[in-house]
Parts: sequence; C-alpha cells; structure tokens
Amino acid sequence: MKPLKSIVEPGYKRWLVTGGLGFIGSHFIRLVLGAGRAVSVVNLDAMTYAGNGANLADMSNHPSYRFLRGNICDEADVDRAIGDGVDAIINFAAESHVDRSIIAPSEFLRTDIMGTHVLLEAARRHKVSRFLQVSTDEVYGHIASGHAKETDCLAPRSPYAASKAGADLQALAYANTYGIPVLITRGTNTYGPYQYPEKLIPLFVTNLLEDKPVPVYGDGDQVREWMHVEDHAEGVLHILERGVAGHVYNLSAGNARTNLEITRRLVQLCGRSLEAHVRYVQDRPGHDRRYAIDASKARRLGWRPKVEFAQGLTATVDWFRTHERWWREIKNGAFQKYYREQYEQRLAP
Ligand code: DAU
Repeated sequence: MKPLKSIVEPGYKRWLVTGGLGFIGSHFIRLVLGAGRAVSVVNLDAMTYAGNGANLADMSNHPSYRFLRGNICDEADVDRAIGDGVDAIINFAAESHVDRSIIAPSEFLRTDIMGTHVLLEAARRHKVSRFLQVSTDEVYGHIASGHAKETDCLAPRSPYAASKAGADLQALAYANTYGIPVLITRGTNTYGPYQYPEKLIPLFVTNLLEDKPVPVYGDGDQVREWMHVEDHAEGVLHILERGVAGHVYNLSAGNARTNLEITRRLVQLCGRSLEAHVRYVQDRPGHDRRYAIDASKARRLGWRPKVEFAQGLTATVDWFRTHERWWREIKNGAFQKYYREQYEQRLAP
C-alpha cells in the first residue's frame, strides 16, 4: 500500500473522506489536497454507479492521497480505512438522487442511515476528533415561505430526504449521548463539473448537447437554490475547521430559481430552442415545490460563496461541452437502463 505523507511527516493530520469519488466529495478532496494543508486524505468509496475514478484522476498520484474501495456499511472496510486512526471523518457517501429513491428506497436507508451509523460507531471506537456529516436542505421539506433555519423542525418528504434526516438525527444523538464532536452541513442544490448526469442541470445540458428533449416535471415552477460545487466544498471545509461541535450549519448561496428559469437558460446556452427541446412530463410523486434555507449561521463563521450564478452556469455548460468523453461514457453505460425506466413513458408522444 502506498505510504501516506502523514506516516512519513509528523504534524500531518489524517482525514477519512467517504464517497470521495462522487460529485461533491471529489471536489472537496481536490480542494484539501490542492490547498497545501498539512493533511493527508484516505478516500473510502464503494464505487457504486455514481462513484467514478475519473472524477479525481488528477489527484490519484498525490503523495497525501490514498484510495480504498469499500463500503461505509461494512465495519471492516471502515476500520481498514481508519487504520491507526484519523483526526476527522467527513461523510459524503450517500445515495443522493430523489428519483432513484422513489423507484427503490431500500438502498437509501442502507447507505444513508446504516452507513452513517457504522461511521459514527467507528468515530466512537477510534475517538475521532471531528465528524462532519454532509446533509441536505431537503430534510426541512417543502418551505412555503421564508427560509428554513437550522433549528426548524425536520419534515422530509421523499425516501431520500427521510434517509438523510435519519442520518442527521443519528449524528446529533451521538453528539448528545457519547460526546462525539459531530458537525452537520445542510447544502442546497449543487451544480458544476463532474456531476452525474441524472440531476437536473447535467441531465438537461447533456441532453441538449445531444439534441434530445429535456423532461420538465409538472409545471416547472418548483424553486431550488443553487450553489456551485466549489463553494459547497469550501463550505464543508470551513465548517469542519471552524464549526462548533454539535452544531448544524445551512450552506446556501441564494440563487433561487424555478426549474423553468434554469431550463430556459440552459436551452439558450446550448444554442437549442424551447419549442423543439422542452417537454413537460408527468411530475415526480410527492415533488417538493420549494426549498429555501437561511445560511447566516455559516456566514457568521466567515464562509462566503464566491461563484456568481450566471458565470458558474455558463462555465458548467462549457465544461460539459469540452468533457464529452466523461459524460458519454456514463450515458452509454448502465445509465441507459435507468433513463429508459425513468423517462421512456414520460417522453412518449
Ligand atoms: O436540495 C439539495 C438536493 O438537491 C440534494 O440533497 C440532492 O442530492 C440533489 O439530488 C438535489 O435534489 P433535487 O431533487 O432538487 O435535484 P434534481 O436535480 O433531481 O432536481 C432538481 C429539480 O428539477 C427538482 O424540482 C426536480 C426537477 N427535475 C429534475 C429532473 C432530474 C425535472 O423537472 N426533470 C428532471 O428530469
């Protein structure tokens, strides 16, 4: 096994990042290793459909990085990754797509709830000094007006959101009962390079680049807040380093948009036409109309999202345009079966 810098160089901290081959996790690892911190990273990733070695290929030979294929639900895998000990666990590993949770919820309960439980137990056994649980604004459920605060009741409404809420509550219970130094971040919808093309923005961009229709659920007036993935990764790092143990922090850059506003802009950026490409299709069951969160607590700690939304979106479309091989490999593989199941009937004339 490749030696890690922490073993050779005293003073280095050692962090276990789970799900680091996924979308936000891979950006987080790149940020940590690129910033010249005295930190080495062990990345434990099960390489399920959304975990992709190509997402972090540029870091694979970094002296402070080691990858281990393994599942957070498996205590032996987690112990192997922790080895002689880690200073922090940052849990990005999750089943994260709402539509898949509607088709097959069990995997969400297993990974998101039981997987987090296994990690919390490991944190207890190994006396880890920071445990950061990456969560989501979806745990608050539909927000009719105003912005959800960290102290608001949780009211998740999809199997995915309920699984993440279960994990949050477990993590907080471990903080309260065992004194585990838990931190939770609840982020909004995130976009940027390397996002698996099942989510709204990468699905629509890649469909448009392929000259295919884009399926808008229901009337398209649902509202989401959008944050660039680099801002999300920085937010998690900021909270890890400066957050108060036992606390929850919302992460939002604002940028509230309806799905139709996003769709129109993407159609424009891809040089397609609304008439030819936009299709209103059967809605997602239990679809939350609006998410909106108040991130002033994280901002009081000094976190500031930097990426301006219009620029971030344009750059993201450009990234997909210039990284066609990355997304074509995905779309030509097992994704096709999922796409057929999810959209064939919806898009049928
Ligand atoms: O809010 C944070 C959450 O954002 C994360 O925790 C989740 O992991 C992430 O998947 C995302 O959840 P959403 O359900 O909001 O994301 P998604 O990209 O699936 O959908 C965004 C909106 O676009 C939602 O209102 C549903 C709509 N949509 C989505 C797809 C895939 C469509 O209209 N058509 C589609 O084909």
